[in-house]
Amino acid sequence: MKTPLILGVLGSGKGSNFHAIMDRIQAGRLNARVSLVISDVPDAGILKLAHDFRVPALCVRPGKFRTKLEPEIEAEVVRRLQEAGVELVVLAGFMRLVKAPLLQAFPRRIINVHPSLLPKYPGLEAWKQALAAGETLTGCTVHHVDAGMDTGEIIAQRQVRVLPGDTPASLHARIQAAEHALLPDVIARLAEERHTAGTAGTA
Ligand code: GAR
Repeated sequence: MKTPLILGVLGSGKGSNFHAIMDRIQAGRLNARVSLVISDVPDAGILKLAHDFRVPALCVRPGKFRTKLEPEIEAEVVRRLQEAGVELVVLAGFMRLVKAPLLQAFPRRIINVHPSLLPKYPGLEAWKQALAAGETLTGCTVHHVDAGMDTGEIIAQRQVRVLPGDTPASLHARIQAAEHALLPDVIARLAEERHTAGTAGTA
């Protein structure tokens, strides 16, 4: 049995992508383990889900900025992820920009899921942006994280059709369903590549 890839999941919202990762792991179709969930929102659904799945979780202080963590709080996040043995950081609805402490501690080992076909529609509520622009095709993206907002090398995308009569809510729901397949797929691929690259032992 190959050793599982150790994940740290950061999220600010309801946690449906975290749920999808846990479902895939529990189904035996993703060789990974989530060792820590971190949120910046005390009542975020992802924290309740972590509790339900018995995954260690913590909430960090939101601090004085809206779009990023204060450097010392981000340094604490790094320390906690490292203490938890995290190999891959997954941003699953984490609504803050990641800065130097995390980027330097986990080079090319932070991925993000975003609800558009990047580079189109970075930022907030991307599905509303796509709808307002009259797109007939949108989707979701998993990408490596750099210092920009929803920039960074694209790993994989999944297309979602915009249907006549779509509302923001109906479109977002279909994009999220696509995310729930895409994100675990990408993590599974990264876990597999780690073994074929010979960077991890077998147990
Ligand atoms: C997801 O749709 C994700 O793509 C988005 O937040 C949602 C979180 O949902 N992230 C961004 O917009 C990042 N720019 P979840 O909490 O149910 O997983």
